[in-house]
Amino acid sequence: MLKVRPVTQSWRLDDARMTLVLAARRDRLPEVVYWGVPLPEHEDLATLYAAGALDVTGGMLDENPDLSICPEATRTFPGQPGLILRGQDGTPLLPKFCFDRMDIRDGGLRLHYRDAENGLAYDADFVLDDDTHVITARATLRADSPVHLHWLAAPVIPGPQLSDEMIDFSGRWCGEFQPNRTPWSAGIRYRENRTGRTGHEHFPGLIVPGRGATNTQGEAWAFHYGWSGGHRMIAEELPDGRRQIQFGHAARMEPEASTEFRTAPLYLTYSSDGLNGCAVGFQRHVRDRIVPWPDPDRPRPVHYNCWEAVYFDHDVPKLQDIATRAAGLGAERFVLDDGWFGQRDDDTRSLSDWQVDPRKYPDGLDPLIAHVHGLGMTFGIWFEPEMINPDSDLHRAHPDWALGGEDQTLGRNQKVLDMANPEVRDFVYGRMAAILSAHDIDYIKWDHNRVLPMPDAAQTRGSYALLDRLREAFPKVEIESCASGGGRIDFGILARTHRVWLSDSNDALERLRMQHEAALFLPAAITGSHVGPRHCHTSGRHLDIRFRAWVAAQRHMGFEMDPRELTEDEAKALKRVTDWWKANRGWLLAADILRLDSADPAVLAEQQMARDAGRFVVFAGKAATSAQIAPRPLRLTRLDPGARYRIDLTNRADAPGLSRGAMALKDGPLTLTGSYLMHHGVTLPWSFPETMWVVEGVRL
Ligand code: DGJ
Repeated sequence: MLKVRPVTQSWRLDDARMTLVLAARRDRLPEVVYWGVPLPEHEDLATLYAAGALDVTGGMLDENPDLSICPEATRTFPGQPGLILRGQDGTPLLPKFCFDRMDIRDGGLRLHYRDAENGLAYDADFVLDDDTHVITARATLRADSPVHLHWLAAPVIPGPQLSDEMIDFSGRWCGEFQPNRTPWSAGIRYRENRTGRTGHEHFPGLIVPGRGATNTQGEAWAFHYGWSGGHRMIAEELPDGRRQIQFGHAARMEPEASTEFRTAPLYLTYSSDGLNGCAVGFQRHVRDRIVPWPDPDRPRPVHYNCWEAVYFDHDVPKLQDIATRAAGLGAERFVLDDGWFGQRDDDTRSLSDWQVDPRKYPDGLDPLIAHVHGLGMTFGIWFEPEMINPDSDLHRAHPDWALGGEDQTLGRNQKVLDMANPEVRDFVYGRMAAILSAHDIDYIKWDHNRVLPMPDAAQTRGSYALLDRLREAFPKVEIESCASGGGRIDFGILARTHRVWLSDSNDALERLRMQHEAALFLPAAITGSHVGPRHCHTSGRHLDIRFRAWVAAQRHMGFEMDPRELTEDEAKALKRVTDWWKANRGWLLAADILRLDSADPAVLAEQQMARDAGRFVVFAGKAATSAQIAPRPLRLTRLDPGARYRIDLTNRADAPGLSRGAMALKDGPLTLTGSYLMHHGVTLPWSFPETMWVVEGVRL
């Protein structure tokens, strides 16, 4: 709920979990002067603002420059400004904004500022969703005549002071979502992704934990920049000790002078109950507000994706056999991956020639699709729409449609199509629409396997436009965002897609960790996770089918191994887990993923809690051998302390022979209070590394 206090230049956004106060001196840009636990309604904002002013001593200016939502260089701001721009002749412009007016629309607050001397206008938008507890903030810059933009930050937020570190995420192919914990110190933590896509390297998110915060307790402030073209993040501690957090597009992504620039939405959430409070806010916001589900009531189908089974070696009878076996295991959607078009026998050719390869599919795709449908599965297909191989018919006809110079270094033997060019978009749209119109296809796996030769926001806008056009023409088709695995995961792409391919690693051990970290931002319903081959193709590890299956069952489940490799025992184990997933997905995929504070660093554990808090499932994955001999109790979270819960080990049959003690949980269900489960925890049986315990709980 949004309330306006017109008495001073101050505004507040409130919900049950937080208050954010903006206040300005006179007609200047406002500062976020408070963001944290809800303040009483009768808090006087003018006093609050005055009370928070910093003192001045020797070696300082006579007044501290504002850390406003767009810090201005002209006001002697000692850190990075929120806006850097030049006139058309290259002269730097030094804006100084004054309050113009405000609007309250659709529950959102819009503040307008003007700089008459430079002919500029700056708008800041804030919308608070009081159900998900996520604030969406955006900045817009308008100019009377075209200007060159170097940098525009989304509304700038002060960093909390009782915080020792910040958490952000880097990664690589097959190693996405690697957390970095960086201590705050004087100066800047600067991350900039100049690859032109969201990237494995720099996920556009930040969590600032309050001192002592864990997954389940303490304060945390979290940020996500919803843009797929590469972002810049500045977390800066100023000489006076204040901290600022800026997010925006990577700098200099707008090569053309223009009269209007807009940041992507910056999503903000605050928690006073640990990192999980932020994670749940983002998970719910993505699933319930951002992802445009064509049919929200449709259960997420179990996928089968043929990539790691056949790669480019497509053969209809073989694929039909694989589809039959996948259906037998419980798959409900068959996704035909790379290799069906042009002359695509390997990754050196044919990208952009989106016509069915008659050598591999002499009767077109129909016989395969009919077979898949006959098995009760739907059919999905792979495209990499923004890409072109130099060895392709399109490149021979239109070499100028590719971005970058002739002497550029290729990536996976391919170039990037110029998506800012409407002719290119029309062509790609036409080819994709022809395939989608001629066949009953309900899913696209949309890949993006190389970085751009240089970042350019127009490219991202072009990709968004193509996605939007296809979605409008084929509203029932769901789309998966893939970019060599998790190279394009952000809330901007998720406003147009329905699933992300978290990683090209189907190694369950790696996945366990990545899924755990990604849950700080992503819900289970959109996070694809596949059971890979016994012998993992990207890590060389051998992992047991039970572990592979349970790790996939933590998210949107699928299979990607060649089902012909499965032994009878493996097939049975996989079917059992898949049946469990299908029986539970109704509540599970709407549940909150709560990361548990595991006492044993070898165990990565989460509790997926139903929205009505009436049931939960705990996945305790043992990623390594423990230092101590006996498992340490695992504390649960967010239960009702006084309520009784029946907990049961779902997969007790997986206990190894070396687990030989008498333990109540091994024998059958137990009834315990929420208080005990949260403050002592569940004591699990001994297990091997690379295994998963699954515990289900029901509130009685
Ligand atoms: C990269 C993707 O991440 C894989 O899953 C697969 O689709 C290949 N591209 C196909 O070329």
